[in-house]
Amino acid sequence: MKITIQEAPKHVNEEVTIGGWLANKRSSGKIAFLQLRDGTGFMQGVVVKSDVSEEVFSDAKNLTQETSLYVTGKIVEDTRSDFGYEMQVSHLEVIHEATDYPITPKNHGTEFLMDHRHLWLRSKKQHAVMKIRNEIIRATYEFFNTNGFVKVDPPILTGSSAEGTTELFHTKYFDEEAYLSQSGQLYMEAAAMALGKVFSFGPTFRAEKSKTRRHLIEFWMIEPEMAFMDHEDSLQVQENYVSFIVQSVLANCNLELKILERDTSKLEKITAPFPRISYDDAVEFLKEKGFDDIEWGEDFGAPHETAIAESYDKPVFITNYPKDIKAFYMKPDPERSDVVLCADLIAPEGYGEIIGGSQRIDDLELMERRYEEHGLTGPAYAWYLELRKYGSVPHSGFGLGLERTVAWLSGVEHVRETIPFPRLLNRLYP
Ligand code: 4AD
Ligand code: MG
Repeated sequence: MKITIQEAPKHVNEEVTIGGWLANKRSSGKIAFLQLRDGTGFMQGVVVKSDVSEEVFSDAKNLTQETSLYVTGKIVEDTRSDFGYEMQVSHLEVIHEATDYPITPKNHGTEFLMDHRHLWLRSKKQHAVMKIRNEIIRATYEFFNTNGFVKVDPPILTGSSAEGTTELFHTKYFDEEAYLSQSGQLYMEAAAMALGKVFSFGPTFRAEKSKTRRHLIEFWMIEPEMAFMDHEDSLQVQENYVSFIVQSVLANCNLELKILERDTSKLEKITAPFPRISYDDAVEFLKEKGFDDIEWGEDFGAPHETAIAESYDKPVFITNYPKDIKAFYMKPDPERSDVVLCADLIAPEGYGEIIGGSQRIDDLELMERRYEEHGLTGPAYAWYLELRKYGSVPHSGFGLGLERTVAWLSGVEHVRETIPFPRLLNRLYP
């Protein structure tokens, strides 16, 4: 019977066949330990010379790294491994012999590994990160589907920019100029007026000249948008959503978190509600901490965010930023026109901003004034104004960056390891 490694726990004491690859190997004159992987997991296969034919034992001893093969044998419990099971191999059949696999079990430099990303993905650690990414995606759909949201797909080729025009990827669209989407938000606002509570999940593109551990050129964003929800309502959705994905990863990625040596006690504390600090108070706090490079009205950089986040063991909302450093569509605080009803959610442990969100301007006249201030003209933006013309309602939304969230939950230092094929300032390959 053909099974996968993932299914092994259900087949203890049965003779089964698994198709896989040889990740690593140790052998002596009498026994060979095969580290097998099959895509679903990693498991040890033990080949004992006295239990198998001479040919099987010599094949096992000669196996090279990443050779593909079918192994047949009995699944038994193995309390010494994290996985908990191993195979007593009785037979093996090589499918394709790999020679000179470039990624050996020794340490390689990051650039070398990034050049071989198409192969590096096979490693145990990268496998674990991808499984955690997958669990966050799965939990995202579960959360929004069970909370009455409809998935809507905004376009990727667009004529409008949501987050400023300096970081756009330009492309030709026949005779017109188009951009790759920076954010689906403007379209999601239209969708919320049609479907109530909506969310998108798709790739977004930013030609950012930032070479940091938190920036990708192409990243995936989850963007919920909600009609009849104010800023406070939106913050509650955000903290419930983030708590849900953290608890889902803890519940369903035990083995992966162990492989990554993630300190799970830190993740266990992530339950709603989350603390909040106003931008005003955050500036005061930073000044008290000795940051003399920040004045009211300036945006925070990574060191500022990290210093603020260090005071909490949960993600923290920084609320009500000055209007001049935030996007054109954010609704001014009715009590103070110099700040807007917005929040950034800063992850603990230095992982930075994982969510940006706000209540949106719903007043046509004010939005028209913003258009003038920001020079937004032409048909690419005209339709967005019409959302304020026909039954405008209070509405709010936010965007969660998938890769920064994966980095945080996996405990990996750099976002380049959180997406299968990262696009970075200096990298379009592989
Ligand atoms: O704060 P941002 O720019 O917000 C928006 O795009 C809004 N239109 C979202 C909305 O309200 N619908 O981006 C949202 C999140 C950030 O908090 C961050 O997690 C992630 O997207 N992000 C990036 N992740 C990786 N690399 C980059 N270059 C990123 N830029 C933003
Ligand atoms: Mg932001």
